[in-house]
Amino acid sequence: MYKDSPLGRLRLPVICSPMFLVSGPDLVIAQCKAGVIGSFPALNAREADGEPPQLDAWLKRITEELDAHNQANPDRPAAPFAVNQIVHRSNDRVERDVEICARWKVPIWITSMGAREDVNQAAHSCDGIVLHDVINNRFARKAIDKGADGLIAVCAGAGGHAGGLSPFALVQEIREWFNGPLALSGSIATGRSVLGAQAMGADFAYIGSPFIATSEAVAAESYKQMIVDSGADDILYTSYFSGVNANYLKPSVRAVGLDPDNLTGEGNKLNLSTGDVRPKAWRDIWGSGQGIGAVHAVTTTADYVDRLDREYRAAKEALCA
Ligand SMILES: Cc1cc2nc3c(=O)[nH]c(=O)nc-3n(C[C@H](O)[C@H](O)[C@H](O)COP(=O)(O)O)c2cc1C
Repeated sequence: MYKDSPLGRLRLPVICSPMFLVSGPDLVIAQCKAGVIGSFPALNAREADGEPPQLDAWLKRITEELDAHNQANPDRPAAPFAVNQIVHRSNDRVERDVEICARWKVPIWITSMGAREDVNQAAHSCDGIVLHDVINNRFARKAIDKGADGLIAVCAGAGGHAGGLSPFALVQEIREWFNGPLALSGSIATGRSVLGAQAMGADFAYIGSPFIATSEAVAAESYKQMIVDSGADDILYTSYFSGVNANYLKPSVRAVGLDPDNLTGEGNKLNLSTGDVRPKAWRDIWGSGQGIGAVHAVTTTADYVDRLDREYRAAKEALCA
């Protein structure tokens, strides 16, 4: 499927989702070498005032390492990579980052928090394709009207700013009118679930949280271990920390002195070790989707993708038997 597109060169129908403060070049390179699409948010490439854009350096490294891998391994080439642009007006870097990505001919562009025609045109100007992430069918139509090539249905239980809709509901509504590339996200963590996403009508599984517990992720060791130790019951869906609903690890909320089951009380604020200032989402309060019950150890990205591949093929065989 999608043979002539960057989406066609995958070992498994998996796109690894971009994660703020978690995905960097090491993770992306490992994901792509393992045969699945790796990605990172452009905003993760930070730089001090007056310094050259770190995004430029990251794209140079990723491009060169994947090219070298492809030359050395023509029989198992790397999957292409994606860069995520937060196109919300609060992102004052977006024009500059778009220009850098176009210059490096980024093959896949993931846009979130608003759809913009100029960003889609910039991606198309360098033969890139745009996947836009949406939480409902109305935003999905809007994104395609504005020129996105494909969609990511971000459903209940996803890490980050998850939607509230069931994946069954959203995928079937989108598939009533859209035949193009569609990825599904929300708690997918096993090869069996990747096949399940396809059975429901999606082309790709979009997986984030399990990759936090990999050696290549830029996350504190205690964050990785919390992913291993937690399950769906340990996830809190709240707008308390950023103003937008998102899924977080309850133990990380407790770790800053707050009660995840009672966040509105004044007592919570008084208990904060940082005074009455709320801790920062993502930096202090750690994000995760509900699917992490399937993560039992911190592993390399290659080992985790091998596991997904084994499970996916076994599930396919079992269904066809
Ligand atoms: C810690 C964390 C940070 C995230 N940051 C971003 C981001 O910067 N941009 C974005 O589009 N999505 C972000 N997401 C959402 C993911 O891209 C994706 O939709 C989600 O991880 C999929 O659900 P899963 O974690 O259950 O696999 C983030 C998710 C997590 C867990």
